[in-house]
Amino acid sequence: MKWNKDTFALKGNLLYTPSPEKLVSLASHYLVCEGGKVSGAFPVLPERYKGISVRDFGDSLIIPGFVDLHMHAPQYAMRGLGMDMELLQWLESFTFPEEARYADLLYAEKAYRIFAQDLKKSSIARACIFGTIHADATFLLMQLLEETGIVAAVGKVNMDVNCPDYYGESTMQSISETVRWIEASQERFQRIFPILTPRFAPVCSSGLMGELAGLQQKYCLPLQSHLSENRAEGQWVQSLFPESRFYGEVYDRFGIFGSHGPTVMAHCVYSSPDEVALMKERGVFIAHCPQSNVNLASGIAPARSYLDGGQRMGLGSDISGGFSLSGFRAISDAIQMSKLFWRLQDTDKKPLSLSDAFYLATKGGGAFFGKVGSFEEGYAFDVLVLDDTFLASPARLDMVSRLERLVYLAGQDCICEKYVSGVKVWDAIEDR
Ligand code: GUN
Ligand code: FE
Repeated sequence: MKWNKDTFALKGNLLYTPSPEKLVSLASHYLVCEGGKVSGAFPVLPERYKGISVRDFGDSLIIPGFVDLHMHAPQYAMRGLGMDMELLQWLESFTFPEEARYADLLYAEKAYRIFAQDLKKSSIARACIFGTIHADATFLLMQLLEETGIVAAVGKVNMDVNCPDYYGESTMQSISETVRWIEASQERFQRIFPILTPRFAPVCSSGLMGELAGLQQKYCLPLQSHLSENRAEGQWVQSLFPESRFYGEVYDRFGIFGSHGPTVMAHCVYSSPDEVALMKERGVFIAHCPQSNVNLASGIAPARSYLDGGQRMGLGSDISGGFSLSGFRAISDAIQMSKLFWRLQDTDKKPLSLSDAFYLATKGGGAFFGKVGSFEEGYAFDVLVLDDTFLASPARLDMVSRLERLVYLAGQDCICEKYVSGVKVWDAIEDR
């Protein structure tokens, strides 16, 4: 049989998590890709694949590409700034002034080119990304991201009340610009798609949220926002929406809490039991952003409770609440924060294991995009080939130990190749 180039195999040491507690390691296996999907992992290449192209990566580790469920592209240029402030002061002092600059398309292009280039080289295969309120700059961001080969949901931000005079929209403007942006971008790209993005309840009027629910149904779109990130934020929401029993109910009353499409809520540090129950009922994804939660001193999200409670959840960098694009770093941050939660807040909630956190960074967040983040048959062929020779050790380590060391010590340089849906989008040797 003559195979086309959509069918090929990578050979190496495979690691993946079909469930949080199960970290599978398959030494020296063939991972076969057919039509962009995993068709199996085999110790010996089956007869039926005779003649396909095989890349042998020797002793390298091969893992699923990471998923970043929450980041802000326009904040990439201000990573590491304002890290001695809490959320609301940080938004006012650093974030809104920076995002306002994206009215200028020349600035937007410069900044977004750098972001897209860095994301392409990163360990991230898929992401949910906030833009700014500017429809044209957000469209430009989508164009630049399409060239990176990663898959991403990208949103024009909506915010029409309690905004600074230099950065905000009227309700009418917010809706009409959102419609213009959706119509320009929906089905325009192969890998990038629009996601509705009301910033967070305090800067969205009731009218705006109601209209967005209508657009979500009309255009069948997913939606992303922030939820229960910071104490002062929670109190502000309560004072603005006294009729709601909890923060998430504000979104739910307007029909934008998972009832009309896939939904991601970032943070959930202070979610009440009712809020958590409603997220589960509505299938809302939690984007757990441990690095941001420590930088902005927001608090520690109860990731162990969410995982054991069967919430849908993945990890987010929350660039630039978080400063690192690295999926490895997100995993180690999630583990470390869960240890502090256990030690300081609730000794019944045992820390996340390597396997738990690896699952969140791959299959947990990947579920937002469908069958993504695992090497089980039928999953998208999103793959990182990793070289850990820089961590040379006199002892011979098993595969899981090698992965654990990468989680704590890896920089960008360990990524040899990155595939998304079976397409090689980054090759360290060719692209460096
Ligand atoms: N809540 C509303 N906007 C933002 C933002 O830009 N970053 C974070 N971390 N939280 C927010
Ligand atoms: Fe955020």
